[in-house]
Amino acid sequence: MTAPYVPTPRDIAIEMLKLANVRPGEIVVDPGAGECGIVTLAVTVFNTIGIGIEINPALVRSCIESFEKLGLRGRAYVVWGDLFDFDYSIADVVTLYLGSDINGKLRPKLMRELRHGSRIVSHDFEVPGLKPIKSVIIKGPFREHRVYLYIV
Ligand SMILES: C[S@@+](CC[C@H](N)C(=O)[O-])C[C@H]1O[C@@H](n2cnc3c(N)ncnc32)[C@H](O)[C@@H]1O
Repeated sequence: MTAPYVPTPRDIAIEMLKLANVRPGEIVVDPGAGECGIVTLAVTVFNTIGIGIEINPALVRSCIESFEKLGLRGRAYVVWGDLFDFDYSIADVVTLYLGSDINGKLRPKLMRELRHGSRIVSHDFEVPGLKPIKSVIIKGPFREHRVYLYIV
């Protein structure tokens, strides 16, 4: 089960991280990180530790190059692998832009592993079986985006 690479626009990513009330020093994990745009913003704008998980090696390389370029060594990480193999217990915030099917398949794992009070923020797709505590519509450059917030 996979999702194609479509990046979350920068402004939408910032709003996602704000909605999740991301605080400095927290660990933000982006399963299916693409070129690590969300991870990079979480680290550079919100002063967090960011971890991306990405299955496509070309995108992983792109993440590493941009971390190097921005001097984010020790603050931004990318794992090359399947997002279903990662242990999410480390995360304070999980950002999703995957699809309802993958979100639904990932839900039991997130519920098992995430700590009480961790947040999940999902772009455009709900997490089936979870009730969002908030959902907002954000105007992007080309369309409206919906963002769902869940608290574990
Ligand atoms: C829609 S993009 C989202 C990229 C990024 N999270 C963002 O919002 O800008 C989904 C990404 O998930 C990756 N992906 C899909 N299935 C995956 C899997 N099972 N494990 C790891 N990455 C996966 C794809 O390669 C793609 O880069």
